[in-house]
Amino acid sequence: MSERKQFRAIKGTRDILPPDSALWNWFEHTAREVFESYNFGEIRLPTFEETTLFARSIGLQADVVQKEMYSFPDHGPDAVVRTEEGGLIAIEIKESLRLSDNEMRAQLQQYVEVLDQSLSRRGASEFVSLRPEATASVCRAYIEHNMQALPGNQKLYYIGPMFRRERPQKGRYRQFYQIGAEVLGQSDAPAIDAEVLEMLLVFFNRVGLTRTTLYVNSIGDKNCRPQYVELLREELRKVKDKLKEDSQRRIETNPLRVLDSKIPDEQPIIEKLPRISDHLCEDCRAHFAKLKEELNLRRIDYKENWRLVRGLDYYTRTTFEVTAEGLGSQNAVCGGGRYDGLVELLGGPPTKGIGFAIGTDRSILSIEESGNAPKLGGLAVYIAWMGQASYPTAVNIARKLRAAGLSVELPPEEMKFKKSLGLADKLGARYALIIGEDEVASRTFTLKRLADGDQKKLAEGELLEYLESERRR
Ligand code: HAM
Repeated sequence: MSERKQFRAIKGTRDILPPDSALWNWFEHTAREVFESYNFGEIRLPTFEETTLFARSIGLQADVVQKEMYSFPDHGPDAVVRTEEGGLIAIEIKESLRLSDNEMRAQLQQYVEVLDQSLSRRGASEFVSLRPEATASVCRAYIEHNMQALPGNQKLYYIGPMFRRERPQKGRYRQFYQIGAEVLGQSDAPAIDAEVLEMLLVFFNRVGLTRTTLYVNSIGDKNCRPQYVELLREELRKVKDKLKEDSQRRIETNPLRVLDSKIPDEQPIIEKLPRISDHLCEDCRAHFAKLKEELNLRRIDYKENWRLVRGLDYYTRTTFEVTAEGLGSQNAVCGGGRYDGLVELLGGPPTKGIGFAIGTDRSILSIEESGNAPKLGGLAVYIAWMGQASYPTAVNIARKLRAAGLSVELPPEEMKFKKSLGLADKLGARYALIIGEDEVASRTFTLKRLADGDQKKLAEGELLEYLESERRR
């Protein structure tokens, strides 16, 4: 027998299995309900876009763009490994699959030849990337569909996977999931920022993610930030020798990011740096003051954090993050902020924007760790049928109960009574419905509550009524 490769999910990706997936569905469903109550509509976006869309939006110097994007030429899956010398494709593919099987090798060879032909036909490569985030895509869609011509602000939400090639650890994956919301339009009223934050916290509250802290900041705009960044750079150059390599590099490329550093030795140095709050222009200062007023009006608790600069370049003025307990170092469950001007940067009309993205993976971890996860669904009724003559009745009743919205397990083959009830127990069913030939003849069935063994004899007509009344309790 030839050796078979044991396939596993790629590092940093994972399967969400039942019953966890029920929790994920509930979480996403609750987001939809809350967001729609704030008049947001869902936008479904592609999972890959032109690489340059992300590079231009997020910034060429951002780690996400420099190090973390999954990018490939849009020629076919295997072109990733093509090199200038050509011919290397086959070698790399063969190695990566560890082919031991001649048939497979032959198929692959054929495939590579087809691929090669198509490569030379199509000419220069166009790079695409799996989306590392979706704000850029929303802005691209806003422009593409001329949404500025629609009435009012565009309030959009999205749910789905994002991809970043980060070092995997608890709460950090290479394929992770976000629920995001964005408001795009002509107004940058701080009430919009506050409403977006209110919606976020109403949602967190609804799903039991309550041990959270909201941090807010203003990072200024194109009128005041460049001067601040220059000042920061000058101050950082003075202490360069005391900083670690990453921060040293950032002094020139992106000094704001130094403020993000978590390295203990750098903390006392950073604390002494000039703060953006002392260098905001009049308009940004007024915007931030009004935002805080609006948050107070809505009784939203927050902490100001002058070091909250965020890792994506498109932000202006308001930035925010929510952290939650039980997550260790990866404790940000949501990040967001204002990005006035991003649409313009992508070739669209002058437009204001604000939004956030919730990390679903981390949020669910935190809810689970706090013990706040709801008990969801589960199997309501296991039908223990015996004797071929009772099978048609079992099929019929299963369909009726399912139509009434109950989760029902109907064993596909006859089983011994004891074994059948044992399985019902193991599956976590709340009830076993016993259907034997006597029950079919009398049209009354035994319903056994598995938690305490309580049994009831019920006519077919009473069965549904009883189960529904139990469900309401
Ligand atoms: P972000 O801060 O890069 O912002 O990501 C938002 C959230 O996604 C994070 O707070 C975190 O919960 C989750 N997240 C990010 N990377 C990972 C990962 N590798 N594994 C697990 N979870 C992760 C954005 O993406 C912006 N687009 C948010 C935004 C929307 N700003 C304005 N509008």
